[in-house]
Amino acid sequence: MNKSSTDIKVFVSSVIPQIGIDLLKQEGFTVTTWDNLTPIPRDILIEKTKECNALLATLTGKLDAHFMNECKHLDVISNFGVGYDNIDVAEATRLGISVGNTPGVLTDATADIAFGLMIAASRKMFFMHKKILRGEWKYFTPTQNLGIELKNKTLGIFGLGRIGIEMAKRCKGAYDMKVIYHNRKQNAEAEKLLDAKYVSIDELLAQSDVLSVHSAFSEEVKGIFNKDAFSKMKQTSIFINTSRGGVHNEGDLIEALNTKKIWGAGLDVTNPEPMNADNPLLQMDTVAILPHIGSATVEARDGMSRLAAENIIGFYKNGRVPNLVNPEVFKK
Ligand code: DGY
Repeated sequence: MNKSSTDIKVFVSSVIPQIGIDLLKQEGFTVTTWDNLTPIPRDILIEKTKECNALLATLTGKLDAHFMNECKHLDVISNFGVGYDNIDVAEATRLGISVGNTPGVLTDATADIAFGLMIAASRKMFFMHKKILRGEWKYFTPTQNLGIELKNKTLGIFGLGRIGIEMAKRCKGAYDMKVIYHNRKQNAEAEKLLDAKYVSIDELLAQSDVLSVHSAFSEEVKGIFNKDAFSKMKQTSIFINTSRGGVHNEGDLIEALNTKKIWGAGLDVTNPEPMNADNPLLQMDTVAILPHIGSATVEARDGMSRLAAENIIGFYKNGRVPNLVNPEVFKK
């Protein structure tokens, strides 16, 4: 931190909105960017990062233990995203590298996608759209293509944080849905705000008409929505996931839909990403899939770019990343 600004070199490993780059440059930092829309190859990521003090990364680059040890000189990694499961945070902490993320600015954008997927799945929208494209819109059919309504249904939130709360607000406002949730810890404030009830995971599975996943990804929740979980859900229920694809088991989800254990699904995240174009989920009438666009609005992405830059600026100006995910680094 005794370096002068121009000595501080920042590598931005994806194309991001200009606002963050401008902020870094205004601070006098020397900024190098990867200017290709395709993900940076790993060897180039390591080579470029080795020349810099700070890295502004996105989820497309896996920053694992090998990467950390190749780049252990780094002061700070700022992730362009609220999720940071692409980063081995424990290893970064061990090496004394601060890690930051971008919470808050993408809350509404992501909740909108969860809400939209819920409606799209419940009314078979994506499937019906594909039928028109195939020239299959022939006549009006009173008994075909029927969806299900959402009014007064029960919304189950797995992971009631910022985004889960916004999803619940939308569902209450639009459909007067009852809200239940399961978290590691009870959230008294959110309970008051939403009249939400804390339930066990089994109760969440059994009672939800729409079950929407908003938890952060960790080993604890990896594959938690599996065959066993889907078998405990209502046959009329809709599963929504806008957090990380690893939270559900995709094979088990396909089977649960095929065997009518659950009614439908809406996914903005898949496992793996990108999803293969021949994935059977893409052909199901009650399924709506998007390619991880939860935070893809001009407002959210500008906000993420700004916060990601401010994390790096905060580190060098004040010795602290404003949105630090590994405060334990200070014990080093
Ligand atoms: C996030 O912020 O975690 C989004 O999934 C985009 O990275």
